[in-house]
Amino acid sequence: MWCLLYAIMVLYVPFHGFNENSDNNITEEEVPDGPHDQRIQSPLQDAETYRWQLPLLQIEQWFEEQLHPDLKLSFALNSVLHRSTSAFQKIALLDTKHFGKVLVIDGKLQSAERDEFIYHESLVHPALLLHHKPKTVYIMGGGEGSTVREVLKHRDIEKVVMCDIDRVVVDFCRSHLTVNQEAFNNEKLELVFNDAKGSEKFDVIIGDLADPLEGGPCNHLYTKTFYEEVLKPKLNDSGIFVTQGSLAGVLTHKEVFTSIYNTLKHVFKYVVAYTAHVPSFVDTCGWVLASDEPLKLDVEELEIRIRERIRGELQYLDGASIASSTIMNKTLHTSLVNETHIYTEESARFTHGRGIFGNSQSEI
Ligand SMILES: *[C@@H]1O[C@H](CO)[C@@H](O)[C@H](O)[C@H]1NC(C)=O
Ligand SMILES: *[C@@H]1O[C@H](CO)[C@@H](O)[C@H](O)[C@H]1NC(C)=O
Ligand SMILES: *[C@@H]1O[C@H](CO)[C@@H](O)[C@H](O)[C@H]1NC(C)=O
Ligand SMILES: *[C@@H]1O[C@H](CO)[C@@H](O)[C@H](O)[C@H]1NC(C)=O
Repeated sequence: MWCLLYAIMVLYVPFHGFNENSDNNITEEEVPDGPHDQRIQSPLQDAETYRWQLPLLQIEQWFEEQLHPDLKLSFALNSVLHRSTSAFQKIALLDTKHFGKVLVIDGKLQSAERDEFIYHESLVHPALLLHHKPKTVYIMGGGEGSTVREVLKHRDIEKVVMCDIDRVVVDFCRSHLTVNQEAFNNEKLELVFNDAKGSEKFDVIIGDLADPLEGGPCNHLYTKTFYEEVLKPKLNDSGIFVTQGSLAGVLTHKEVFTSIYNTLKHVFKYVVAYTAHVPSFVDTCGWVLASDEPLKLDVEELEIRIRERIRGELQYLDGASIASSTIMNKTLHTSLVNETHIYTEESARFTHGRGIFGNSQSEI
């Protein structure tokens, strides 16, 4: 109830300020600074009457993601659909009011039904489209199935190997994420659960891993040694590697994004970073492409390849938006160019993570 009143109060004050007919304009110096301020008293009283006109939102359960030690984001829930725990991670599928079904692993939102197309199109298509003729794809992680789904939109792909450490997560997503069920059942997909050590090479490798997290299961998969000794030998000569790069917002890009970019710059001849805003992350995400062949971002050629290679319509990307996503503003550009940190086993950097469940008190 207090939350509701507070929300109305916060909403009311700015509206009041923008009202042109008002002879009581609130200027910056005058903005009331607390609940005891006289000027808030009358809107608050009005709010009592407004309250009954608003649809009654009785929210009993929230999922709270701790974005930073001093910042949380709350998602109102319809219900908790499924939960599971594996040897590696805790996983949950939540039905949120705003973003639809969301997948949460170790307290971090992984993807949301309503906007995951932004993330997964961005992760998959630039790399596949920049390759002259991709036939085989290897996915590190990707247990959710959305990455495979996007890869399989490319008609000429003959084989996709997906290697996730966590069978529980894969089985969970396979049975609960209906949107990816077709991809999981596609005969071109080969699922592997142990670190694949074979000598087979691939045209495109996609890093769809959890962020580097303190004590997390994927940290060594971001190191220079791993890229040099395990990843690169798995790529065909003209192969392209792409990895998710965690958050790339103005305030978050130095956590790990610039380090991942810089590490890859020490392993591959050509490295390109790009970004997209993802509403359910309330931030921008970053990805990094890497290859020993030049990565040519020609808008017309990209358009032709999209038309010729991809089955169906993309929702987020076209040739121009792929090219523009690689152009950073000065803040990001400078940080990428100036980054000196390289991921090694000894000098890792981490993003913050771990969420909690409001009201039910249980951790996911
Ligand atoms: C309030 O703001 C409007 C629009 O900027 C302006 O026209 C008006 O003169 C202001 N009224 C007072 C009392 O400052
Ligand atoms: C990549 O390597 C595999 C064998 O390791 C081969 O089958 C495939 O044709 C190669 N792709 C390209 C584009 O050279
Ligand atoms: C600067 O670029 C980053 C990465 O693309 C983005 O997150 C951020 O929103 C941009 N800043 C502005 C003000 O657009
Ligand atoms: C980036 O590096 C250049 C050259 O070393 C330096 O002059 C500049 O101050 C650095 N910028 C930032 C924002 O650190």
